[in-house]
Order: sequence, then structure tokens, then C-alpha cells
Amino acid sequence: MILVTGGAGFIGANFVLDWLAQSDEPVINLDKLTYAGNLQNLASLEGDSRHIFIHGDINDQQKIATLLKQYHPRAIIHLAAESHVDRSIHEPEAFIQTNIVGTFRLLDIAYYYWKEQEGEAQQAFRFVHVSTDEVYGSLCKDAPAFTETHPYQPNSPYSASKASSDQLVRAYHHTYGLPTLITNCSNNYGAFQFPEKLIPLMIVNALSGKPLPVYGDGQQIRDWLYVKDHCSAIRRVLQAGIPGETYNIGGWNEKPNIEIVHIICDLLNELHPADYHKLIKYVTDRPGHDRRYAIDARKIERDLGWRPVETFETGIRKTVKWYLDHQDWVANVHSGEYRKWIESHYQEHAG
Ligand code: NAD
Ligand code: TYD
Repeated sequence: MILVTGGAGFIGANFVLDWLAQSDEPVINLDKLTYAGNLQNLASLEGDSRHIFIHGDINDQQKIATLLKQYHPRAIIHLAAESHVDRSIHEPEAFIQTNIVGTFRLLDIAYYYWKEQEGEAQQAFRFVHVSTDEVYGSLCKDAPAFTETHPYQPNSPYSASKASSDQLVRAYHHTYGLPTLITNCSNNYGAFQFPEKLIPLMIVNALSGKPLPVYGDGQQIRDWLYVKDHCSAIRRVLQAGIPGETYNIGGWNEKPNIEIVHIICDLLNELHPADYHKLIKYVTDRPGHDRRYAIDARKIERDLGWRPVETFETGIRKTVKWYLDHQDWVANVHSGEYRKWIESHYQEHAG
């Protein structure tokens, strides 16, 4: 079996669902259930003995040691993190505690577990660390996309914390030989994304007639990847990646934010007619806002044969439909802590 951390979050839940749709190999899912962890994402697995959910923190070494001893996973897929840049600007502490200290604690326990394995089990063990393209910093408009050797220049507390965790993972491979792999992926979108991130926030706000807050001039560029494509890339890296290597994962889909918002308004207008464009509102920019991210995903294609399946047009249509069909999920999220966060946050940006 495999151990997934953060499997109740956006990418984690998609990963667990995808994994169990394709294989009967059980998953132990360790998640702290922060505001971003939502077990409703995994409701379709209720009663499925292949999914073992453990409520816990990656900082809790004793709990992880017990888990490893009990279940003997052949791999750890590490997704647990604080993941939202705006939150990291307001309250960076949790990012340091989970993304840096938590990753260190998990790595350290994984190392002792791996060292005690023998023969084939030791050889086959993998620690896959799921990271972000934001560690590379910001690109000018015409600069070439990030390759795996691009220098780390993180600009937000979020990206700095992820960069630190990447460096620790690298060090555990280099110093101790732990068979680690690092993936640096661009912005994901799809089902179950918490509606604080750009795409779900715009869909959810538009459907309830709320303003669509575009930071600054809306010309910041992100490289969008449909979440299921990210999941297939992680599976491929686990299966065939070389320990010690880093793989960039991207969608070959660079778009400025304002274009994304217009595409969402057009799609919503087609599927649930109303004038959504009039809700667009330019608001105060995010401090230190990175201008452009772009991933050069040629290495993973060349070495592991992975390419995304979805185009932005097909992926965004599926995503908008999903949010339209799952308004109960959105309502459930809204009744939680999310409401408090969005109120204080939006007031600031509305300036
Ligand atoms: P998310 O915020 O939706 O989910 C994070 C999950 O981790 C939640 O279920 C949360 O409860 C859990 N968690 C947080 N702290 C924990 C702790 N201390 N112990 C155990 N569980 C904890 O995040 P996401 O968007 O699904 O991102 C998953 C991973 O992928 C993160 O490492 C993130 O940096 C990376 N990533 C995300 C994107 C993106 O666009 N969302 C892109 C590239 C990389
Ligand atoms: P986000 O989804 O938070 O991801 P990240 O900051 O990790 O790239 O934001 C994506 C882009 O959208 C980013 O340039 C900030 C911008 N943005 C807005 O313009 N308005 C919003 O309300 C949000 C949440 C993001």
C-alpha cells in the first residue's frame, strides 16, 4: 500500500480517488483536516476498505512511526501543506510549521523506516514530495519557462516555505540516500478545489452574484493544469522516476488572470445564463504578487512519457460543470470557517 499525506485536500482527494479508480492497492490517508481538508471530498469511498483515513498531523512523529510499522507502505506521497499564498501573507506561521517543520519531521521518520527495510523493499521504497513552480520565483513576459535547473527565488511566505521543504528533501537524498523524488507543478484547477483560489472563487462568487475580485491589472500569468493530469503525472513519477531527480509538471497553458475570469463568465453564461461579466471588479493588488509562472515540462515528457490529456478548454468546461452540479458541496464549505476568512480578506482587497 501507499501512504498519502493531505489526501482530504484538493489535489490529495483527487489523487486518492484516481488511485483507487485504477488500482486495488490500498491508500492510507493521513490528514490534519485543516480548513482545507474536507472528508466530503472522499464520500464516494465510504465503506471502501481500500481507503484508510487517519486523522493526524505530519508533525506527529510518533503517530507516523506507528502507522509505518502497522501498514508497511511501499511509498509516501507527500501532499500535506498550507497552500494558499494570500493566507501565507496574512499568517505565515502555519506555513513554516507544516510546510517546513512538518516536512522535516515526516522525512526524518521516513528515513528511519526506510533504513530498517531490507533488500527489495528498501530498494523499491519512494518518497514523492509534491511541490510547486512558485519556488522558482517570477518570470518576465518573454523569459523562457522554468526548467528543473532554474534557480530558486521564492517571493511569498508560501513559496519560501515550499522551497525550504524541497531543499530538505534534496538533502535527505544527497546525505542519507533516501529515495526521494520532487515534483514542481504549475497552478491546478478542477473538482474539490477550495473556493479561495482564483478559479473556484470566481465560479462560486459569480453564481451567488458577488463581485469577482481581480487583483491589480489582472495581467499576471499562470500556467494552468487540470488536476487529474497532475495526479497522473505523480503516479508516473512514482512508477518510473529516478530517485534524487526533480520533475516539472505543467499544462502548456499560460493565461493572464483576466482572461481566465472572462472564460469562466462566458461558460457560466452558456450553462446557467446571466450577465456575469458585470461582476468583475479590479481590487488592490496582492503584496509581492508574482507576475508570471510558466513550466517547461519537456523533461517529464522525454524521460517518463507523460503529457497532459486535457486542454484548458476541456478542463475548464468540466470544472465549471462540476461546481454547477455540486452546489451542496459549496454550501457545506461556506457554512464553515471559509465564511469568516472570505469576509476579512475581501474587505481588505476591496480597499
Ligand atoms: P489544499 O490546501 O487543498 O490541501 C492541503 C491538505 O493538507 C488539506 O487536506 C489539509 O487538511 C492537509 N494538511 C495541512 N496541514 C497538515 C498537517 N500539518 N498534517 C497533515 N495534513 C495537513 O492543497 P492542494 O491545493 O491540494 O495542494 C496539495 C499539495 O500540492 C501542496 O503541497 C501544494 O503545495 C502542492 N501544489 C498545489 C498546487 C495548486 O495549484 N493547488 C500546485 C502545485 C503544487
Ligand atoms: P491563486 O489561485 O491564489 O494561486 P497562486 O497565487 O498560487 O498562483 O491565484 C491565481 C492568480 O489569481 C494569482 O495571480 C492571484 C490572482 N487572484 C485574483 O486576481 N483574485 C482572487 O480573488 C484570487 C484568489 C487570486
